[in-house]
Amino acid sequence: MENNHQTSNGAHVLTTRQGHPVTDNQNIRTVGSRGPATLENYQFIEKLSHFDRERVPERVVHARGAGAHGYFEAYGTVGNEPVSKYTRAKLFQEKGKRTPVFVRFSTVAGGTSSPETLRDPRGFAVKFYTEDGNWDLVGNNLKVFFIRDAIKFPDLIHSQKPDPITNIQSGERIFDFISQTPEAMHMVTFVFSPWGIPANYRQMQGSGVNTYKWVNKDGQAVLVKYHWEPLQGIKNLTQEQAEAIQAKNFNHATQDLYENIKAGNFPQWELCVQIMSDDEHPELDFDPLDDTKIWPEDQFPFLPVGKMTLNKNPEDYFAEVEQAAFGTGVLVDGLDFSDDKMLQGRTFSYSDTQRYRVGTNYLQLPINAPKCHIATNQRNGQMAYRIDAAPNQNPHVNYEPSTLNGLHEAQPAGKPYEPEYHARLVRKKIERQNDFKQAGERFRAFEDWEREDLIKNLVTTLKPCKKHIQDKMVEMFTQCDAEYGRRVADGLKNADNNLQTGPIGSGHTQDAVIEAETVAHE
Ligand code: HEM
Repeated sequence: MENNHQTSNGAHVLTTRQGHPVTDNQNIRTVGSRGPATLENYQFIEKLSHFDRERVPERVVHARGAGAHGYFEAYGTVGNEPVSKYTRAKLFQEKGKRTPVFVRFSTVAGGTSSPETLRDPRGFAVKFYTEDGNWDLVGNNLKVFFIRDAIKFPDLIHSQKPDPITNIQSGERIFDFISQTPEAMHMVTFVFSPWGIPANYRQMQGSGVNTYKWVNKDGQAVLVKYHWEPLQGIKNLTQEQAEAIQAKNFNHATQDLYENIKAGNFPQWELCVQIMSDDEHPELDFDPLDDTKIWPEDQFPFLPVGKMTLNKNPEDYFAEVEQAAFGTGVLVDGLDFSDDKMLQGRTFSYSDTQRYRVGTNYLQLPINAPKCHIATNQRNGQMAYRIDAAPNQNPHVNYEPSTLNGLHEAQPAGKPYEPEYHARLVRKKIERQNDFKQAGERFRAFEDWEREDLIKNLVTTLKPCKKHIQDKMVEMFTQCDAEYGRRVADGLKNADNNLQTGPIGSGHTQDAVIEAETVAHE
């Protein structure tokens, strides 16, 4: 077809999305130079109506993010053993084998344009485009989480998001929820310390947090936890350091990632796993499926399996970073779920929200589509633009089984892993909760400056809270460690009543406003 999209001086011609050259992009079509405008003003209405739809809903959590492309290079081993002993996942098997990846880092509670200096866990989501289809490892920077049962997630997030009336985040709402959620103490101890404000995305760790399984060719499984160790080192900020950055820059982490990659200073992380045999481990004082616990490194060492390098910035933020869709259900052969109740709940939530946020055919978008053979019998739906069929498949057959040259099931890659269950169907908490021990260990393991910053941040956020919430929190800090509780209690006694900054995510608590609203409703 003739290319009429260059002017005589070689400049590219602006067109509509229908391919019509645009002759005037500065003036709408009007009756006379002063209007009124006309309804058949197709070019103008197209331009504005597309603009009116430029946003998709932001992610309900982790809305603010930055992304980059790169590759993962396998070591072929796990520690000193061949990786095949534990998993048959192809991406890990051969030393030096490269798999392309896309990574999205994020904060959790703030909206799409919120400052990147806020106290908040950081998301660390990796999409591996493997030859066996995609694998998403959707993790955070911290190794534990606030809750261990997925049914609590909407309440946790509501308590950390802005107040439904004032639209302002409130420390009192956060600690109202936390004071009734003792399993959160380990995570709270991390989040209110400098570990709650990583200096940037390059110098932070990542962790799968939940427990997964690896399955080998004989169908035998082990429990695994995944961890990313940054080869750039780890750097966190105190509240003051973060505030100084925030006064000048809302985008410092995105900027840091983008500029380093642009300058060829490619960030790298080593992927390590911790491995446990696939059973309940009654000898441990925690449950291996409890995501509020760390697996002690002296008993379950970090075993390196490969290295990731990020070497390419996105070409378009919206197409790649905003529309990227990660989920914990996206596993490849040789990787499996554990019974971790958080993981099971998460696995429903991600693809469910993505069908709503991005659309039914979100997996057809280049950023989400696997880079290997895809052939399904799924057809149609909003925005379907291609048919995921095999090249020589009979196009009339979109069902299976069929004798008319349709698609067929694959041969299993190894022996299936088939765990057996004998238990009553119940609603029950896990038995080994041990909510305070690891939080106390974490408090004692911090360096002095980290402990000081932790106490200061807790006191600042708790000070405007109601007395019964403060008292309950002090009681729980004391159960973690007597000094921890005493220092928060002393801080609360001595703190200046007017000091009101620094809950997770935003600047101010608004308890006076909440009080006023409560009275108004009575
Ligand atoms: C994003 C749900 C726990 C890490 C999301 C999204 C939802 C969600 C709905 C938005 C996804 C999207 O719009 O594409 C849940 C539920 C959880 C849970 C129901 C608990 C039951 C966790 C935990 C972690 C985590 C424990 C850390 C291991 C992330 C990350 C993202 C995310 C990193 C952002 C992914 C991206 O960059 O697109 N989560 N989440 N979530 N979640 Fe969770």
